[in-house]
Amino acid sequence: MNINFLKAEIITTVTKERDYPKTDVPEIAFVGRSNVGKSSLINCLLSRKNLARTSGTPGKTATVNFYNIDDKLNFVDLPGYGYAKVSKVEKEKWGKMIEEYLAKRENLLRIFQLVDIRHKPSVDDCAMMDWVRHCGYVPVVIATKLDKIKKAQVEGQLALIRDTLKLDGDSILIPFSAEKRTGKEELQSFIDEIYTEAMETH
Ligand code: GTP
Ligand code: MG
Repeated sequence: MNINFLKAEIITTVTKERDYPKTDVPEIAFVGRSNVGKSSLINCLLSRKNLARTSGTPGKTATVNFYNIDDKLNFVDLPGYGYAKVSKVEKEKWGKMIEEYLAKRENLLRIFQLVDIRHKPSVDDCAMMDWVRHCGYVPVVIATKLDKIKKAQVEGQLALIRDTLKLDGDSILIPFSAEKRTGKEELQSFIDEIYTEAMETH
């Protein structure tokens, strides 16, 4: 593997485009509703407990956070959307932050969209998926909190997610649990693969 996920450190935490790190290393961004498990997934992939701060209370991540992975790749943890309890002003501010990042970041390689495996994707999730496609990215969806449902429910929930987000059979949909680390190695290999592919085509 090109990426061994050993070195991981925060680069910077920002709210505005002008403060994004000036770099052309490829980036992978994680988007999804508040509380879906974005920060937990980042910690899991990097085998860290609290590099990306997590919380049981939605709305924990309120900035755009850049992480350096093995000096080769950046992960970008974004604020969540769809959390009813933040003020309208705050929601607009976060929405703008997410949109600005996704639309303008030239070294953004892939967007990983997280949805909770227990629920039908929300209207906001569908709007985010449309935005991802609109920005020209191939959808990659991660269904989080796999440990919270029974084995017998998994296939049905994955089909519901595929159907609601209009993912075709070839689109990537990975069931994942940060709690049990299910899907961790699959996701690491996938990231390694897309990184290697990006390096080869440059
Ligand atoms: P915001 O920063 O608010 O947008 O949330 P986030 O998407 O970063 O979610 P975060 O990682 O902070 O996780 C939210 C809550 O879900 C925390 O209490 C986590 O412990 C829990 N959680 C995340 N992933 C899993 C999982 O795979 N299984 C279980 N059981 N809980 C999880
Ligand atoms: Mg977070």
